[in-house]
Amino acid sequence: MKQESKTVEYNLTASEFNWEIKPGKTISAWGFNNQVPGPILRARKGDTLVINLVNNLPEPTMIHWHGIRLPAAMDGTGEVQRPVMPGESFEYRFTVPDAGTFWYHSHQNETIQMERGMYGGIIIEEESDLLVDDEKLLLLDDMKLTGDNEFKQLGPVGRWIERHDGREGSTNLVNGKEEAILYMHAGQTERWRIINAASARYFTLSLDGKPFKVIATDGNLLEYARIETEWLITPGERFDIVAGPFNEGDQFSIRSLPYNRVTMLTAKNQPYARVQVLERKESVAHLPEKLSDIIALAPQDAPVTRKIKLSVDPSLKHIIDFTVNHEMHGMDKPVMVGELQVWEVSNTSLMDHPFHLHGFFFQVLEDNGKAPAYKAWKDTYNLKPKTTIKIAWMPDNRPGIWMYHCHIIEHHAAGMMANFEVIDPADPSPSGKGSFAGCHS
Ligand code: C2O
Ligand code: CU
Repeated sequence: MKQESKTVEYNLTASEFNWEIKPGKTISAWGFNNQVPGPILRARKGDTLVINLVNNLPEPTMIHWHGIRLPAAMDGTGEVQRPVMPGESFEYRFTVPDAGTFWYHSHQNETIQMERGMYGGIIIEEESDLLVDDEKLLLLDDMKLTGDNEFKQLGPVGRWIERHDGREGSTNLVNGKEEAILYMHAGQTERWRIINAASARYFTLSLDGKPFKVIATDGNLLEYARIETEWLITPGERFDIVAGPFNEGDQFSIRSLPYNRVTMLTAKNQPYARVQVLERKESVAHLPEKLSDIIALAPQDAPVTRKIKLSVDPSLKHIIDFTVNHEMHGMDKPVMVGELQVWEVSNTSLMDHPFHLHGFFFQVLEDNGKAPAYKAWKDTYNLKPKTTIKIAWMPDNRPGIWMYHCHIIEHHAAGMMANFEVIDPADPSPSGKGSFAGCHS
């Protein structure tokens, strides 16, 4: 049965408030509607989301809707809108063309605003034959706090190290709570939509060795589920998994196994939450063999149309700079609507970087010369040190200024990003600053 598309409205008020991350441990968070994470935004595929952002913070902000294929003017970056000043409001309005797991987060002074809690999940539903008994949305994060539960401020050396490594803290959060306990029923199967909202933390998911099925990457269903016992989720990435069935009385952790992303930080095995399995309940779950069809955008040997280098370069001012094609916060060449893009993205540095493209999904054609083991749509993909990937994506008719960047927020801030324009050949007038859409009040 086809349902009518509708308009779904949310109010998001950004402010500072006290947030209890566990009994007796309260932080002064920044977030939306007095909660960390912000409220889950829900709609159905094809609906129009209207989000009225009110900024009650002491500084400007704006919101990026990570993974949603929306018009450029709604993308929430400094190239397409003026920051929303304290006391101002801004209406975001866009149609959601894809079902899946997405998220929103501040895209202004992110190293502070995201660290303090300015993010939330978005679930876009659709009719499908995937049937589960229940669903959980898990937003993973870590915070670096002092003994007094203040956000840790660093001296010049510490700041330099954090710029290099990204900010990792030892307060591990699932949905804004430390040492959270999650419940599910024995015999049941649940869909867990997992989002890594941390600034820099790489999360290798483990359910204490219990197998789970990975069914979606960055919001998009895979063709076939993959049975795994561990799974890397880098900052900005989303994976949907199917967990269960488990036995009554089972208890296990949701933990992150160590991942060495080649920084000065030591990788650790860290628990994030506990799962307790309650009494048995009937299951109606059904996971079809084939989850979706993914049509290849281009063959593995498709000719490269653009080369992008992610580098850590020597710098007089900062000792090192984080760059794209040896430029910080640069402007890349435009692309034309309807022209297939085949980009070779290389990481020339000695540490990992998760590469994120705003507004469009890509397919990885190869990773260091090898075709990936399975087809998938992605908007964020981790590049290990000294790695080159080839990706394909299609600029559909959404002209304007877009961007790509490393999703380690400190690297993004330090310059590892570039903007580029998508041009509609039928209307090649330059867009960008001066043509801000939407309305401030
Ligand atoms: Cu979630 Cu510009 O990123
Ligand atoms: Cu990076």
